[in-house]
Amino acid sequence: MLCIAESLEKQLHAAMQRAFPEAAAAGQSFDPQLAPASKPEFGDFQANGALPLAKPLGQPPRKIAEAVVEQLQADPAFSELCLEPQIAGPGFINLTLRPERLAAEVQSRLGDARLGVPAAGQGAPVVVDFSSPNIAKEMHVGHLRSTIIGDSLARVLEFRGHPVLRLNHVGDWGTQFGMLITHLKQVAPEALETADAVDLGDLVAFYREAKKRFDEDEAFQTTSREEVVKLQGGDPVSLKAWGLLCDQSRREFQKIYDRLDIRLSERGESFYNPYLPGVVQDLETSGLLVVDDGARCVFLEGVSGKDGKPLPVIVQKSDGGFNYATTDLAAIRYRFGDSPDGDGARRVVYVTDAGQANHFAGVFQVARRAGWLPEGARLEHVPFGLVQGEDGKKLKTRAGDTVRLRDLLDEAVERAEADLRRRLQEEGRQEEESFIAHVATTVGLAAVKYADLSQNRITNYQFS
Ligand code: ARG
Repeated sequence: MLCIAESLEKQLHAAMQRAFPEAAAAGQSFDPQLAPASKPEFGDFQANGALPLAKPLGQPPRKIAEAVVEQLQADPAFSELCLEPQIAGPGFINLTLRPERLAAEVQSRLGDARLGVPAAGQGAPVVVDFSSPNIAKEMHVGHLRSTIIGDSLARVLEFRGHPVLRLNHVGDWGTQFGMLITHLKQVAPEALETADAVDLGDLVAFYREAKKRFDEDEAFQTTSREEVVKLQGGDPVSLKAWGLLCDQSRREFQKIYDRLDIRLSERGESFYNPYLPGVVQDLETSGLLVVDDGARCVFLEGVSGKDGKPLPVIVQKSDGGFNYATTDLAAIRYRFGDSPDGDGARRVVYVTDAGQANHFAGVFQVARRAGWLPEGARLEHVPFGLVQGEDGKKLKTRAGDTVRLRDLLDEAVERAEADLRRRLQEEGRQEEESFIAHVATTVGLAAVKYADLSQNRITNYQFS
């Protein structure tokens, strides 16, 4: 109800000014603090603006609220819109719309393709960074939440008229490829030379084996590290192997996106590789970079560890390697940067589980201090609750207990189908198999999305 809220806001503001003309003349500012009512019994809206005025006006907030209400009621436009306002508690003003006005408003919007929501007009692009699974690992339920929430945010922003860049920040680079390629060279070399030689399930299994060997076998570790160096150095054989592994995962991810009707542009971590040295250089020039034990770091302000010392964001490890955080710094610089080496965005929204809150807070702080945020730039982390196993622990890929997303979607469709068949039978209705398949798919997949969007985003949820 954007328009009604806007009118109310204006009426309240004018009433406050009329109630306290001297303070208004002396430059006192008035903020009605209009918000949707916290409970239905309080009406439709509440205005809490009397409370912060108590001090500057030297009056009890309830008295201030009374004076504002008196002025409101003297305004015919207000009386046409609302029933008599009620003052509650220390001085909250509760407002209830006249039912006929509400009905008329809803009625007028029904005929409007935009449901009365004004378009924001074309501005700078907004980046929504969501989904973002990792290559050679299964996409898991946490990625599903990011996909569903991120897509919804992107849709809302698009509906408002913003140009939106839907970016899939896929984990497609890093040390894991060194161990995966080394392992595959020995046990399944065909996977590195021919497309489609293994499927994603196999790849995930190979990844686990590789990780295990990496943790246990020093010689394997060394070869893996050499393999990463080769890859980073652009060795054609390594690059080809890497490309094949990415393609394989990409195809599987795409199947999920197609089923859920999600549009995404892939721009993985590897995209930012050429920009990583620039990040380090910039931080060096701005004097933020500190070498600590061989690693290049930026120490955070206002964030300290258990020992009371400020925590660092490690930008470059002592062996020269870069981190997840370095890539995110490069991504921020690129997204806010101007073309051709930038997106020219003014707002970037990240959708990941709440476990990454500290990572983003750190990265945002470094970007701000480095001066990479243009005037009016917004960086927002939209966290969601962790997806936990039945034991209450976070679901993890490496532990091998990840619930496969494909299975989850299949199960949703199967359950919707069983339910539909039961209903049809109860009603004695005959339907074509194609009808049943269509309804079961639509209802099952929509239910998965609804289950996610209908609950508190921040609450952890247990998977059972
Ligand atoms: N690949 C990461 C994960 O699976 C999520 C990436 C989120 N986006 C970002 N710009 N860091 O946890």
